Amino acid sequence: MAFKEGFVWGTATASYQIEGAVNEGGRGESVWDEFCRMKGKIDDDDNGDSACDSYHRYSEDIQLMKEIGIKAYRFSISWTRILPDGIGEINMEGVNYYNNLINGLLENGIEPYVTLFHWDYPMELQYKGGWLNPESPLWFENYAAICSRLFSDRVKYWITSNESQCYIGFGYGTGWHAPGFKLPVNQVVRAWHHNLKGLGLAAKAIRENAKGEVKVGLVACGEVGIPASDSEADMQAARNVLFDREHSEDSIDFGYGDLFEPALKGEYPKSLIPYLPKGWQEDMKDICVPLDFLGVNAYIGSIVEACENKKYRHLKLPVGIGKTSMEWPFKPETLYWVTRFISERYKLPVYITENGMANNDWISTDGKINDTQREDYLNQYLSALSKSIDDGADVRGYFYWSLLDNFEWAYGYAKRFGLVYVDYSNFSRTLKQSALRYKKIIELNGEVL
Ligand code: NOJ
Repeated sequence: MAFKEGFVWGTATASYQIEGAVNEGGRGESVWDEFCRMKGKIDDDDNGDSACDSYHRYSEDIQLMKEIGIKAYRFSISWTRILPDGIGEINMEGVNYYNNLINGLLENGIEPYVTLFHWDYPMELQYKGGWLNPESPLWFENYAAICSRLFSDRVKYWITSNESQCYIGFGYGTGWHAPGFKLPVNQVVRAWHHNLKGLGLAAKAIRENAKGEVKVGLVACGEVGIPASDSEADMQAARNVLFDREHSEDSIDFGYGDLFEPALKGEYPKSLIPYLPKGWQEDMKDICVPLDFLGVNAYIGSIVEACENKKYRHLKLPVGIGKTSMEWPFKPETLYWVTRFISERYKLPVYITENGMANNDWISTDGKINDTQREDYLNQYLSALSKSIDDGADVRGYFYWSLLDNFEWAYGYAKRFGLVYVDYSNFSRTLKQSALRYKKIIELNGEVL
């Protein structure tokens, strides 16, 4: 049986994408508040001001999870609800919100997995340069220490940060996400390096300030290479897509290894080294610190083969391949390869901290949301995951992205990822058919796949 007893069946969200209530509870501004105010940045000029209104409806969300049988909830803390200016005074209203959420989860038998940074970076710190400022790792360390002191008596699982790849890549490199910079490569990598240092210092701070047993991890994303054949050369090409990517002056597209290699092996991939800030070597002792688990967000797989003068060559996907509403190809083996490669390389417990699909969902005349494609997505992606566990990958849990339809960053509300449908006119929530399928999978610990 692939899924052992105690396998963690979860779901995930992030503060800015679901909470709303941006001007309530003493919350300070984040870069996303400002970015959304700029015309044309977000589809339909939407914003997260109200999002799913989970700030007020978190109890209802907990009950929905209970109904689905969810065992663990990965959510993020909004830095500016705890520290409105990013550093300085603690805002007790924000602390109370998360206390209530955490207590509510525990009372309902749901394990909290806390992410400290899921992109809603404090505006006041952005004015000081954000992750470009060499002091920025210390600001994050301070915030992590405070959160650990406040919540670690009840929260065991901690994730320092979510997908630095996207936050720095899109926020400092392409300008598609907040804070919206299009900087030259060396500055993007400078921000990357400071971010990594911050994650290392934060991991240490969580442990040093813990009031109970803690497990600390971090979450990466990236392109997953699917080998075109089982030849060793093609397998190596696929590994390179994850761990040893091609970078150049006009394109930095961070992958799993750009984060995991320095954090776990203490070494940057060679292709990043030319762009690192002066004196980076001294920071490696802060970047490479012990971790208890790895969080893997996996969405996009591409087929690659070995190539003489390059680290890998992409093959065309089959003509007419199915795609989700994000235009991401339907490739269940993505979960197989990503967990297999990451588990064999780093030898730490792996959690799929995000995987899921956006779909064109609506409420049918029978009152149901008949998202059969998402049901099938769950079946096929989880079958691929069970195969990699059978083949030796140490995978401890799976968090479907997302519990709710929510604010999908630059796409606004156009993309629906939820197990639960949200009507944004009144914030009413309805379980989709896929939520019932997930419930069944959880009940039988995957023995229905
Ligand atoms: C990754 C991000 O962590 C999350 O915020 C986003 O909504 C999903 N992927 C889907 O794009």
